[in-house]
Amino acid sequence: MWCRNVLRTHVISNKQAIFSCLQCSRYNSLNSVTLKRPARRLFVSSARECTIGDVIEHWSRRFESEGIPEPVESIEHIVAHIIGTKKIIDILNVRNDPLDASQIEKLESLCECRLSRMPVQYIIGEWDFRDITVKLVPPIFIPRPETEILVDFVLKRLGSSQADSCEILEIGCGSGAISLALAHSCKKIKCTAIDSSPHACDLTMINREKLELTKQVTVLHATLKPDASIEVSENFNSPDNADLDSKLFDFVISNPPYVPTKKIPELQPEIRIYEDLRALDGGDDGLKVIKPLLKYAAKALKPGGYLFVEVDPTHPEYVQFFTNKYPDFKLRHEHTYKDFCNNDRFVEVMKVI
Ligand SMILES: C[S@@+](CC[C@H](N)C(=O)[O-])C[C@H]1O[C@@H](n2cnc3c(N)ncnc32)[C@H](O)[C@@H]1O
Repeated sequence: MWCRNVLRTHVISNKQAIFSCLQCSRYNSLNSVTLKRPARRLFVSSARECTIGDVIEHWSRRFESEGIPEPVESIEHIVAHIIGTKKIIDILNVRNDPLDASQIEKLESLCECRLSRMPVQYIIGEWDFRDITVKLVPPIFIPRPETEILVDFVLKRLGSSQADSCEILEIGCGSGAISLALAHSCKKIKCTAIDSSPHACDLTMINREKLELTKQVTVLHATLKPDASIEVSENFNSPDNADLDSKLFDFVISNPPYVPTKKIPELQPEIRIYEDLRALDGGDDGLKVIKPLLKYAAKALKPGGYLFVEVDPTHPEYVQFFTNKYPDFKLRHEHTYKDFCNNDRFVEVMKVI
């Protein structure tokens, strides 16, 4: 259905853009938008045979000269995608192999996308997260490597439990990376994955099918509201799965939007232009979703259950303040963990028995 409140443009290839409405979360697509400079054909008409090594050298230099972050990795991922190998390391063994004209044409078109600062994950349409690969479509949030640590903590905590089943609720599933990686790692896990974006729910369901995790992962189009209730808009599963008011969970997990609004303009163009900012923008203090999340977790966790949240480094202090100030919620701040850059990034809170 066409919506006229076009507020943001998400470029999804060098020929296509989609427009989103911030009020109703609807996306409209429009083909054949001319987005940037025309492709400069460097190899297609060249008489000399063009090898994978030539292409990598040419495009890494071009990316570097145009200020594209991670120039070598970018072209290596694109080439790996074109030749149908998943691992960058494999292309080192085939540097002298030739590329045919249609491969070069496709490659140049994908490189043009990278010149327009499209993240390589959207260009190749998939990305690895722990031991699974998820399909990615703009503007759904690209899972970050540090979020793999969050999954590790949950699995570690679960490993010390004797229970033979484990119910997990993920709030804000995006592509489904967290819930699917958890379910993939442990058969006793059952996840309910919710997101306020219907497009994120669709992508989670596509990834769930691909990974054959339909029995372990339930997807709901649902929103955590500021009053700490969850409003279910669409239930793609059996009706009993939608009852989030009475169901209790062993874990509540979330990588919510937590970037303070004033920091959004400082984000890389890759993020600002292509990713849905509603997945990132946590309001004035970055706590817009985290505050209701704490209150919701207090209701939804079983005694002895855990809340794991990825946060901005300024947030662990608030979480400790909250758990101390409101003892009636029976939440105890257990631990704050660091990310790869030594920033306080993950908070673990227990529902006391
Ligand atoms: C930072 S992304 C995380 C996505 C995914 N979990 C990951 O780590 O890759 C945050 C997600 O939360 C969703 N979201 C934002 N506010 C929400 C809310 N109030 N209720 C449910 N989902 C929300 C966004 O649509 C987005 O998909």
